[in-house]
Amino acid sequence: MRPAPLVARLGVALLLTACGGEAPKDTGTAVVFTEAAWSPKREADIPADSMGASITRGLYLLRHTPDSLPAYATSNLKCTSCHQDDGLDPNAAPLTGSHARFPKYMARSGTVIALADRVNYCFTRSLAGNAIPVESREMTDILAYLAFISYDVPVGTKIAGHDGLIAMKETLVGDIARGEKLYVEKTCVACHGADGAGIDGAFPALWGAKSYSIGASMARLERAASFIWHNMPQTAPKSLTPQEAFDLSAFINAKPRPDSPGKELDWPMGGAPKDVPYKTAGHEAFTPPPLLPRANPKGAVVPNPPVIGRSDR
Ligand code: HEC
Ligand code: HEC
Repeated sequence: MRPAPLVARLGVALLLTACGGEAPKDTGTAVVFTEAAWSPKREADIPADSMGASITRGLYLLRHTPDSLPAYATSNLKCTSCHQDDGLDPNAAPLTGSHARFPKYMARSGTVIALADRVNYCFTRSLAGNAIPVESREMTDILAYLAFISYDVPVGTKIAGHDGLIAMKETLVGDIARGEKLYVEKTCVACHGADGAGIDGAFPALWGAKSYSIGASMARLERAASFIWHNMPQTAPKSLTPQEAFDLSAFINAKPRPDSPGKELDWPMGGAPKDVPYKTAGHEAFTPPPLLPRANPKGAVVPNPPVIGRSDR
């Protein structure tokens, strides 16, 4: 289908907002990249030059985030706690091709955002840390690595089979009490601990002050169920039933976790998914967990890009 002209679409968006009607959909990138011969470059392919040095630094920042950036990554999660196999695993929210997908409209922000801002959403929400300066060398290095694992992916395309955190086929109701039992029976407790705090440097925290914030996708019932079903227990991925994954997700996401300042401004056009655990425009909080205050609430916010082209500023 041919997209409507910009003016027409803006008109529709304004009308919908005014009427509180259905929000514009994030249709994502429609064109699917299906080059069978394509596979992402890996660490061994990094060139031995200045560009390669930047790419390598970016990769190591993803692998060792809290050690490398203790003032910014204050939880015990690193980027690869979720984006496994250096961001290349199609089952774990792959980062391959991300350089070709941004700037992109994000319904959660209600605007088009650049890849650096998307990286900072994960710093502030998934790592419950602080946004890193967009102009920093570290951000450039991370972007260099994301570009490196996107080489030869045409701009504006989505890699076949790389569907973010893959949607679960069925949306089930999670049972917290069953999840609590499964947490022990399915050996989660062995790595992530009875207190959910994991072990710094080895196993990421599932709840508490050092885990992801309420504003992370992982704090949503279905998103965490998908991650758990596809990837956990780490020793036997895909061994749980979908129901067990939903029960574990419900148990984990009912526990206390860091707040995400400004979260009430998410989905400004409405249309928040049902399982978002906090209140937004036209949406009631879905089983909200107890919240832990953030040490640096200002650092936890990624503002939408400012408009600088008007004289009224
Ligand atoms: C708690 C889990 C978690 C951690 C930790 C995490 N992320 Fe994410 N990240 C996600 C999820 C979930 C998505 C959304 C994937 C989707 O669209 O379904 C995502 C999306 C992204 C995207 C956008 C991908 C795309 O193409 O749309 C980028 C870039 C990204 N993360 C970078 C990072 C970086 C860099 C770090 C470390 C600073 C990090 N993430 C840490 C869970 C996490
Ligand atoms: C053998 C150890 C081990 C077991 C058992 C295990 N995990 Fe994990 N889990 C990990 C590691 C390690 C990571 C981070 C990924 C990485 O570093 O490769 C992780 C990541 C996660 C994450 C995303 C990061 C975060 O902190 O939120 C979730 C959610 C999770 N595991 C849930 C579970 C659940 C639920 C179970 C039980 C069904 C389980 N895990 C069993 C080792 C384990």
